[in-house]
Amino acid sequence: MAIATHQDSLDTASFTVRSLAKDDVHQTLEIEKEVFPNLFPPTSFHRELKNPNSHFLVATRNVFTKRKSPIHEVETSQRGILHHFLNVIRSRRSRAVSNPEHIVGFIGTWYMVDEAHIVSIGVRNEYQGQGIGNLLFLGAIDHAIKTGAETITLEVRPSNLKARNLYKKHGLSERGVRKSYYSDDREDAIIMTSEPIQMPEFTRRHQSLKRGGD
Ligand SMILES: CC(C)(COP(=O)(O)OP(=O)(O)OC[C@H]1O[C@@H](n2cnc3c(N)ncnc32)[C@H](O)[C@@H]1OP(=O)(O)O)[C@@H](O)C(=O)NCCC(=O)NCCS
Repeated sequence: MAIATHQDSLDTASFTVRSLAKDDVHQTLEIEKEVFPNLFPPTSFHRELKNPNSHFLVATRNVFTKRKSPIHEVETSQRGILHHFLNVIRSRRSRAVSNPEHIVGFIGTWYMVDEAHIVSIGVRNEYQGQGIGNLLFLGAIDHAIKTGAETITLEVRPSNLKARNLYKKHGLSERGVRKSYYSDDREDAIIMTSEPIQMPEFTRRHQSLKRGGD
């Protein structure tokens, strides 16, 4: 199975999902620390980037900041009086400049034989409940379908109702338990698995969720 290299970006009005890049690593580590404070060792995102069987996505948010006043630039230039006034007017407007590199969440998938195994998903605490986890999961499913995986699987804590609901929404069901799976507190893990993801029943549901359906 060859992992799909091209990831079409998925967008909502405020967020975009795209593949993880080297420059994103410090922010993804920051998010991981925030949402999994007991995780040790932290994920080596640099190693994940080099792993041919791994694929990580990030969700970014455009942040709007005020651009620096161009007055200084104008005063020190040799431009004419018209340009000077135009620039003073521009500087007085608070112009929004898009910075697409603020990362608000990530999701990681390992490809093993015919299976896409979701190994991690996290959204910054202050951004939870705004549909970002949903967007990331849609992106991971898209990628798994393109890669030719047969099923999606993952482990989740029984106590993590938010995550369990998210996975159920995307058609995963609870198939078994791994006893004392989590090393920090020995909590069991629920194993959740999808129906075959290349089948029309699954892709129809996925496309409907992408269009915003339930
Ligand atoms: C789990 C997590 C990724 C969900 O991301 P999110 O951006 O908050 O989720 P969304 O806003 O996209 O919601 C998607 C779905 O999750 C479920 N969900 C989200 N918040 C919920 C809540 N407070 N209670 C119950 N279910 C909830 C719902 O099914 C929701 O779909 P709906 O809006 O149609 O009801 C996020 O809460 C997180 O990062 N948690 C900490 C890390 C973690 O536990 N990761 C999972 C490890 S297995």
